[in-house]
Amino acid sequence: MDITKRPRRLRSDGVRPLVSETSLSPSDLIAPVFIDATTDERVPIESMPGHERVPLSETAERVHEVRETGVEAVMLFGIPEGKDEQGTRAWAEDGVVQRAVREIKAETDAYVLTDLCFCEYTTHGHCGIIEDEAAENPKQTVENDATLELIERTAISQAEAGADMIAPSGMMDGMVGVIRDALDREGFTEVPIMSYAVKYESAFYGPFRDAADGAPAFGDRRHYQMDSANRREAIREARLDAEQGADVLMVKPALPYLDIVRDVRENTDLPIAAYNVSGEYAMLHAAAEKGWLDLEKAAMESLLSIKRAGADLILTYFAENVAEALSADHRT
Ligand code: PBG
Repeated sequence: MDITKRPRRLRSDGVRPLVSETSLSPSDLIAPVFIDATTDERVPIESMPGHERVPLSETAERVHEVRETGVEAVMLFGIPEGKDEQGTRAWAEDGVVQRAVREIKAETDAYVLTDLCFCEYTTHGHCGIIEDEAAENPKQTVENDATLELIERTAISQAEAGADMIAPSGMMDGMVGVIRDALDREGFTEVPIMSYAVKYESAFYGPFRDAADGAPAFGDRRHYQMDSANRREAIREARLDAEQGADVLMVKPALPYLDIVRDVRENTDLPIAAYNVSGEYAMLHAAAEKGWLDLEKAAMESLLSIKRAGADLILTYFAENVAEALSADHRT
């Protein structure tokens, strides 16, 4: 036998790190945080072990905890004190997210992104306005253009509160364009937009909908979120949002859509974010709880694979644990 090509030569402990192609660092990660205006105490989220809904009074403290792990950015989700048909609390000056942003910007150095959607704010749990049921032909789907007006108001209110970046997640056509116009008109030319550009209709959002109380009361989101069968459409969505002025494009979920992360990477020069969603988190936790896999290793491998696929940054519920593990590694 005459083997001259031996890839194993580069796998010894000393050289492995030198030839490693992909790396993960706390500065790649954004931690989602749930702020709940209906509670005075932290409420654990059962399907997302280690995560809680945090009352407004503990917002800054919660963000300090995130920062101590080395993660510098948070994505805020709000659970409002009340819901209505239109989701008016989404753009209230004293709304849960607006108050939380003010608090965080006053008390911490965190970079604050705000999720912009209505499903947590509407009684029907959809991501925008539902056509009046009394109308002659009620469509029972979200009205795109009427929702754009609410998106615009909400973006302005979030920017006025001090949000560093606005992240619209409702999958309305034209949402990035109206937000960019509104921000520029109101003097927020320096506030970037991270668009949930390629967001699939996914069963992996289940735990989040418990956490944020945003499950649709009827129907599903397939009229506005993408069909998981589609690949070319992802490029089209990404391109449209880039044309409308998105600064960062997101693909969501992450692990079942790594091919899409790669496709979008190859079709844009904008930074790409991937959202390692609640179901991806819950799945690993459930298996680890049964002793079927090593949670930390599985989490690291998942996040590394998302970066390898082409993502520059990752939104993940593992952010704090992984950041801590990464800095522990550095010390050894
Ligand atoms: C709001 C929104 C959702 C998620 C983020 N923003 C839920 C949905 O679209 O139903 C899901 C995040 C997760 O599962 O971690 N539209």
